[in-house]
Amino acid sequence: MPRGKAKTAMDVTELLHQDHMKVSELFFQFSKAEEEDEKEELVKQILTELHVHAKVEEEVVYPAVEEEAEEGEEVVGEAEVEHKMIKYLMAELSEMTGGDEELDAKVTVLCELVKHHVREEEKEMFKKLRDSGADLEGLAEQVQERKEELMTEPLPTMSATLEIGDEEGEADDATDDAEEVEDEEGEFVPQMKALDTKRAPAKPPAASKKGGKGRGGRRKSA
Ligand SMILES: [Fe+2]
Ligand SMILES: [Fe+2]
Repeated sequence: MPRGKAKTAMDVTELLHQDHMKVSELFFQFSKAEEEDEKEELVKQILTELHVHAKVEEEVVYPAVEEEAEEGEEVVGEAEVEHKMIKYLMAELSEMTGGDEELDAKVTVLCELVKHHVREEEKEMFKKLRDSGADLEGLAEQVQERKEELMTEPLPTMSATLEIGDEEGEADDATDDAEEVEDEEGEFVPQMKALDTKRAPAKPPAASKKGGKGRGGRRKSA
């Protein structure tokens, strides 16, 4: 049997739990940080970790929960809404510097949101997934492989990551826009326009795109 990739001996819920602990530690470090540079660096690390973690969950784990776990669609539905709220704050944070006076407050709120979300995942979703008899080690391998890929990619513009659960076309468009403004080092580049557009209350409901926003296989493109 070929052994190319690093094999994951743990199950997927343990792997995700490790990510949760890592982010929790970064939030703790931020709470102790005083220097602007240090805060800025920690925010970057937090956003990177959260981005990669959310993406592997949305691509690999949540579909498995929906398919295999009892009431999977319901718990995934809630988790997706929480991801979206987390991503709004991530988008705002990605534009801030270490000296921004709102930085601490926003990181604190992000930390609270993440804590709540993690609690729900670990206490409810992961339990349902374990109870379902799904191939937890197989999922862990998929998650690990995808994480390794994502870690080598530049971080996308945060506002572009708000697209989970939306129509495929919209998500693709947003990704294209993001690439245009991403700098070579993968630094966070301010681009709140996409976010503002989405929030703009004056805009008429472009076609009836929201109408059929059910669940099941529409979360991501590829
Ligand atoms: Fe999550
Ligand atoms: Fe998670």
